[in-house]
Amino acid sequence: MNATAASGPGMFTALPRQPADALLAVIGMHRADPRLDKIDVGVGVYRDETGATPVMRSVKAAERRLLAEQDSKSYLGAEGDQRFTDLLASIALGSERADDPRVTGIQTPGGTGALRLAAELIARTGRSPTVWVGTPTWPNHAPIFQAAGLTVRTTPYFDVVSADIDFDAMIDGLAQAKDGDVVLLHGCCHNPTGTTLSADQWRILAPIMVTRGLIPLIDLAYQGLGQGLEEDAAGARSLLAAVPEALIAYSCDKNFALYRERVGALWVQSSSAAVAVPVRENLLALARSLWSMPPDHGAAVVRLILEDELLTNDWCLELSGMRRRINDLRLLLGAVHPALAPIAHQEGLFALLPITPDDAAALRTDHGIYLPNSGRINVAGLNHGTVGRFADALALYLKG
Ligand SMILES: Cc1ncc(COP(=O)(O)O)c(C=O)c1O
Repeated sequence: MNATAASGPGMFTALPRQPADALLAVIGMHRADPRLDKIDVGVGVYRDETGATPVMRSVKAAERRLLAEQDSKSYLGAEGDQRFTDLLASIALGSERADDPRVTGIQTPGGTGALRLAAELIARTGRSPTVWVGTPTWPNHAPIFQAAGLTVRTTPYFDVVSADIDFDAMIDGLAQAKDGDVVLLHGCCHNPTGTTLSADQWRILAPIMVTRGLIPLIDLAYQGLGQGLEEDAAGARSLLAAVPEALIAYSCDKNFALYRERVGALWVQSSSAAVAVPVRENLLALARSLWSMPPDHGAAVVRLILEDELLTNDWCLELSGMRRRINDLRLLLGAVHPALAPIAHQEGLFALLPITPDDAAALRTDHGIYLPNSGRINVAGLNHGTVGRFADALALYLKG
């Protein structure tokens, strides 16, 4: 935008400029780099050993079936594909919570849509709670809640020196939270640190949340990419069993590799089945004003997979292959240098490297290794052929 346009007449001239997306800049630099051995560990999608992000076999099979059998594209409703949401509830929440009349859920456009709908619902309660997020967290968390008019505050989460969760500091930070405040928790595969609350930590957190009247908002965006489908949901489920009220924002975009199809769901657990009725009415009214109804294709694909035992088994097989690949690479990286050892027992796509923004810039320019200045890498951006070169270059910048 030039100065004349910025100062000219019109409604939009008052709009402030927005900072460029740091990751998009990294993607652009990677694309422009002619070096054949360049490595992209910036973009946050699963990649296979060849660097591709393929459509899953089970998804392709479901899409073929959808193409052959779908006989209408008429509107569904604001709830989207309810059978999708109900089938997914058993996988995400477990059968006990899925059948709990206090729990209601609807389909959303991805995990982002689920988080935004959660934020709007929280704002609508009129209680003006603060939303507490750990540091660091996915950079889109705070803007999503702030866009709904909510106040966001931070608690410590990740300790850079130990490359682990500083659980005591997190609990101490939450001492400032007030009755009715919301605490955002990553269900598994924390983005960007790769750390996840242990079963013991989830257990310790539960009575603290209950006695202090804090409401968990669990972001479950990578189920199955950490330790396993059941394992990755166990902590969230134990917390749901202990607290009266909670929200669960879910993304199918990574574990079904449906990224651009925007597949997700939001469930709300209320204090009683009676309260779940207005909760659902408000979810539907909000969805209607936000996106009217969510896109159908991806959710229909997931529904078809979950309705069919063979397809479900194949999806689970593919998902475990993805998980194994990530965990193999983690073991390799962890063995390279003492400073990287924690990566071996972290989980999911992401790890936060103990390097400075200058180091990240040097890795880009001097070694053709593309990552953002934050030092967050997508482990799946590596393969067995590149992990050695990556580790050698990185070792130049590691201490200890
Ligand atoms: C922690 C976390 N939550 C939610 C999302 C949003 O997922 P979706 O692409 O389904 O909107 C992401 C995506 O990167 C994420 O990392």
